[in-house]
Amino acid sequence: MRMYDIIEKKRDGKELTEEEIYFFINGYTNGDIPDYQVSALMMAIYFQDMTEIERATLTKAMVESGDQIDLTAISGIKVDKHSTGGVGDTTTLVLAPLVASVGAPVAKMSGRGLGHTGGTIDKLESVPGFHTEITNEEFIDLVNKNKVSVIGQTGNLTPADKKLYSLRDVTATVNSIPLIASSIMSKKIASGADAIVLDVKTGAGAFMKEIDDAKELAHAMVSIGKQVGRNTMAVISDMSQPLGFAIGNALEIKEAIDTLQGKGPEDLTELCLVLGSQMVVLAEKASSIEEARKMLEENLSNGKALAHFKTFLASQGGDASVIDNPDHLPKAKYQVEVKAKKSGAIKTIIADQIGTAAMMLGAGRATKESVIDLAAGLVLHKKVGDSVSEGESLLTLHSNTEEVSSVIEIIEKSILISDGEVESPVLIYGTITE
Ligand code: URA
Ligand code: CA
Repeated sequence: MRMYDIIEKKRDGKELTEEEIYFFINGYTNGDIPDYQVSALMMAIYFQDMTEIERATLTKAMVESGDQIDLTAISGIKVDKHSTGGVGDTTTLVLAPLVASVGAPVAKMSGRGLGHTGGTIDKLESVPGFHTEITNEEFIDLVNKNKVSVIGQTGNLTPADKKLYSLRDVTATVNSIPLIASSIMSKKIASGADAIVLDVKTGAGAFMKEIDDAKELAHAMVSIGKQVGRNTMAVISDMSQPLGFAIGNALEIKEAIDTLQGKGPEDLTELCLVLGSQMVVLAEKASSIEEARKMLEENLSNGKALAHFKTFLASQGGDASVIDNPDHLPKAKYQVEVKAKKSGAIKTIIADQIGTAAMMLGAGRATKESVIDLAAGLVLHKKVGDSVSEGESLLTLHSNTEEVSSVIEIIEKSILISDGEVESPVLIYGTITE
């Protein structure tokens, strides 16, 4: 078999066989096939697309290119959640203890973030003492005991995806549905999930700016999941404005605590209930979405979800007193209010711009080497559709540096106020189950 023929075949719009897909993935992973040939193939896929079968085969080949986590020692159906990424997306922090509280095991492997805010691990590390450097045995024991644990990335997972993603990044081939779908699904499958819930974001702060593209990506991933025997569902949710109020690591922990007490932001709470219900159904702890939602709502109001968060933090070294005393979380030296310059209704809060502002304050990493300031970030007081009076606070900046004028400049350009009334944006554009 020759790589040249595979490139030519895809260039001409033909379907690749399983053998051909495995040949190029394995050859690329072990260094036999050079970047320039794989670049050409990626570009051919970008223009010619892949059939559903090719996409599933590509995913399987990437999964098999490295280690696969074995979670069979954990009893029950392990459902993982994946978000395509957004600004101030606090859902994982809420969902992990919430879903665990109804008995569905949450065995989460997570990473650090690049960009807007930290990843789930960065956020959790703002709880003093909390750590995710635990052995696989501890991880499995904790999930069996408490139904929830988070571990840092271990092993050599999907090396083919790592190489391909870096190559796509510099060859203008990131934005391809079959390539994104197989990349995301390969990582979830290799980390041992039996079933997967996807939160596909759309809007200014999302990867997929248009709803139709988000839907197509969701369908592609659900199809791959089903073909490889991992039941998969997806939700399309809004990311035109940030989710919830808080953006920043310790600030999002505080927001998660509020939400687990049933007094969190409306949009974050609703999205967690929608995604959580799907997770509970896939874990077979409820037979319908309605029943699952009721169980979750109950545990938000009776304190069980919060109790699971407390146990989870404490069992990985975290100071669980932060739950009753959020003051024990890292706190920034300066709190600066950004005020409305006119009265009206909030028309837009451009998510990606607000994310950039949070990153400039230190909440995220501009490069892989940047050090995160766990206390930094911002808290919105208004969301799109809210009315506002001149001089009223739009948001509070939390900063450890006094000089924040360049951040304020970005924020003032990203929060637009209109004279008339504005409707709140739709939060959930739909759920996709096939
Ligand atoms: N996220 C991924 O993990 N892979 C892609 O290809 C795009 C976004
Ligand atoms: Ca948030």
